[in-house]
Amino acid sequence: MARTLIRGGTVVTASETMAADVLVDGERVVAVGSDLGGQAERIIDAGGRLVMPGGIDVHTHMEMPFGGTFSVDDFATGTAAAAWGGTTTIVDFAVPEQGESLQSAAQRWHEKAAPKAHVDYGFHMIVRDVNEQTLADMDSLVDQGITSFKLFMAYPGVFMVDDASLFRAMSRSSENGALIMLHAENGGPIDVLIQRYLAEGRTDPVNHGLTRPASMEGEATHRAIALAKLAGVAVYIVHLSSADALNAVREARDAGTAALAETCPQYLFLSVDDLARPGFEGAKYVCSPPLRPKAHQAELWNGLRSDDLQLVATDHCPFDFKEQKQMGLGNFAKIPNGLPGVEDRYTLLYDGGVRSGQIGLNRFVELVATAPAKLFGLYPRKGTIAPGSDADIVVFDPETERVLSASTHHMNVDYSCYEGRGVRGVPEVVLQRGQVLVDHGKLLAQPGQGQFLARSRSGL
Ligand code: URP
Ligand code: ZN
Ligand code: ZN
Repeated sequence: MARTLIRGGTVVTASETMAADVLVDGERVVAVGSDLGGQAERIIDAGGRLVMPGGIDVHTHMEMPFGGTFSVDDFATGTAAAAWGGTTTIVDFAVPEQGESLQSAAQRWHEKAAPKAHVDYGFHMIVRDVNEQTLADMDSLVDQGITSFKLFMAYPGVFMVDDASLFRAMSRSSENGALIMLHAENGGPIDVLIQRYLAEGRTDPVNHGLTRPASMEGEATHRAIALAKLAGVAVYIVHLSSADALNAVREARDAGTAALAETCPQYLFLSVDDLARPGFEGAKYVCSPPLRPKAHQAELWNGLRSDDLQLVATDHCPFDFKEQKQMGLGNFAKIPNGLPGVEDRYTLLYDGGVRSGQIGLNRFVELVATAPAKLFGLYPRKGTIAPGSDADIVVFDPETERVLSASTHHMNVDYSCYEGRGVRGVPEVVLQRGQVLVDHGKLLAQPGQGQFLARSRSGL
């Protein structure tokens, strides 16, 4: 494979910003510095551009089964959209069917992803029953590079596990080195509220949010951290949405307890007002935990600045508005939960985070690439631009304005949560392991070229 020189850009990592060229040989970066010209057969002109690590989105759901349907992006469309958006690695959640072994679910996920993926990918495994077999399977999966496991404190009768099961899984992870990830909402009382609201005829989408109060996310987050502390392990809270949950994480971290958490763009840029849009439009914004009142957003930005929140992932789980979200007309509890987002994260965080003054550029890189790589066992192969690391690189045009829209996005879903929002920033050239995936508005990546990443244990 030819040597490539990315010339004349501003290279940004989590710790440095410098005018430098990047020399790529084969799949790896071999040098970052000046006067590297003359050594390359291919030149990418990065004048006026930011040269940043490819994004790592550690929370996606491709073709995920939910409430009798499936999320509409598969590994082909979802990873192409990721590449368009500057994300070169995803970590997707494999879902066992009821009673299926974790090993069998992992095999199915490998079969879904391998022929289709345009970008590199890893898996987390969802655990819906904790028993001797699943605990033994967790050990083997860690050895196979699936080193993180999600358990649910919500969705009774479907995914929810009790505290004893959580504690057993956490205790096992203290032996096998896995990272336990939690969907932290207290599903019991939430379910009682849902039944009460439906009985009272309160069936519109906004009631999805009203029946899942932030206090129940705060309570579950607090309990999760206490259980993890008892088991002597770190815990990672997925899709943290509220000040209540953030306070639980912050309090634990201040006391020296290993609590980790991600938030998602929808909690930073959208609110319960979107869920309350007139008619049935609010269904587009149904996800769990739900969108919160706007006041939570400032708290989440504080958390991102102070490192009480370590990264931003998307929880990309798209369902079409027309065919799928409509399943909940007249009953908000039947609206499939989840939003599209894998394509928009990088630019939204740049535009709404860096340009708007919420975070600096190095922190941006840390949130979208470096911290995900470190926490999920991919660093330093991924998540930075340095000699020896994979040449997963975004040449980012920071100035060009565009409008986010379903008519121009590449996700296989019939709406955009950010329809009409003007942003600045375009991932102009996107490389993975030295190969150009996207070049000035052309997708060059092929399905199947993404590779499975056997991840190490978390580098907490
Ligand atoms: O609403 C959501 N978040 N859907 C995806 C599944 C999950 O809980 O992450
Ligand atoms: Zn979840
Ligand atoms: Zn999710």
